[in-house]
Amino acid sequence: MSLHANPLAPTPGVLDDLEAIRILDRSGMLDLTEAFPQQCRDAAAIASSFVSQLPPAAKPTQVVITGLGGSAIGGDLTASLAAASADVPIVVNRDYDLPGFVGPQTLVIASSYSGNTEETLSAYRHAREAGCRIVCVTSGGELARMADADGAPVCRIPGGRPPRASTGYLLIPTLAVVASCVALDADSGPEALGAAIELLTDCSRRWGRHVPLADNPAKQIALALHGRIPVFYGTQGYRGVLAVRWKGQFNENAKSHAFANVLPEQNHNEILGWDQARTQAQNWSVVFLRDPLELTATPRIAKRVEVLRTVIGNKADQHEVWAEGTTLMQRLLSLMYLGDFASVYAAFLNGVDPTAIAGIDLLKSELARMEG
Ligand code: F6R
Repeated sequence: MSLHANPLAPTPGVLDDLEAIRILDRSGMLDLTEAFPQQCRDAAAIASSFVSQLPPAAKPTQVVITGLGGSAIGGDLTASLAAASADVPIVVNRDYDLPGFVGPQTLVIASSYSGNTEETLSAYRHAREAGCRIVCVTSGGELARMADADGAPVCRIPGGRPPRASTGYLLIPTLAVVASCVALDADSGPEALGAAIELLTDCSRRWGRHVPLADNPAKQIALALHGRIPVFYGTQGYRGVLAVRWKGQFNENAKSHAFANVLPEQNHNEILGWDQARTQAQNWSVVFLRDPLELTATPRIAKRVEVLRTVIGNKADQHEVWAEGTTLMQRLLSLMYLGDFASVYAAFLNGVDPTAIAGIDLLKSELARMEG
């Protein structure tokens, strides 16, 4: 199917209608998305000043990054950037409790944008009881209050934004803290950020609201997926983390269902789900998140994509999106950024405000009223 037409999208014109976008985007999610490169620049300055003031500490035997939703993604991205070079395990935890192995030799990074997420506060207390070295990344809230009282270092990031639109503030200090005690490759550590931010700045120009649908791949992907059930397949490694990020962004921004998986695991179970897919729902759309290096560096992964595409056949529309750049940092951030833009444009096609998260707000307020 052409990326420029989708019979399920009655009003693609909204994507190029700046006034309609202004009305739908009441809280400015598209402004924040377009300004992401600048956020990364600010975050790099905050992170390097914070890390330079950290007291000297012994090398940890493991790193646990604990957080939820938009505040966990910085941990996922850090772990995938560090995967090839880190000589200690880096684990991302999304729960009230930390794994049983944590102790005084563990570095725990508690990440909560608001500083008030109850699972993260509980995990922080668990880390304190286990005698872990704790560092917090937050805009304030109860997490900053507890950490200040305990003398744990807090990297304070600017507040007032949705956490999922604060990935620069959540990722870059987390990565800098990890890099301060674990050796990372040059193309995935903080020194790779400058070139990545340059690429993101160029992406922002190419994918922003002023570039019309005909020339804008982010708008084209949103249009292609409209009215369909998106299934994001990361081809391996960091693309698996990004498949989950794309899914979360389509859930929260576009208020639509989406699914995610990663190869090679997908090939061992979910591949068979395509047999019955059409009897379960009609409008599937698969997006493969790819890295140009996989064609030469991991030809067996490239072959898996080719065969999987044949197995899926005409049961779903199929699309491929490709990371840009040479360093791992550039490829990871550019492929994430395309999904951020696409999910915001998908919200406009759905006629919804990308910032609103009524269901999450209701859940948090009901739990806050509950005792115990
Ligand atoms: C909202 C969002 C959510 C939150 C999550 C945890 O934009 O992305 O997934 O990130 O509910 O809240 P915080 O980040 O404040 O700890």
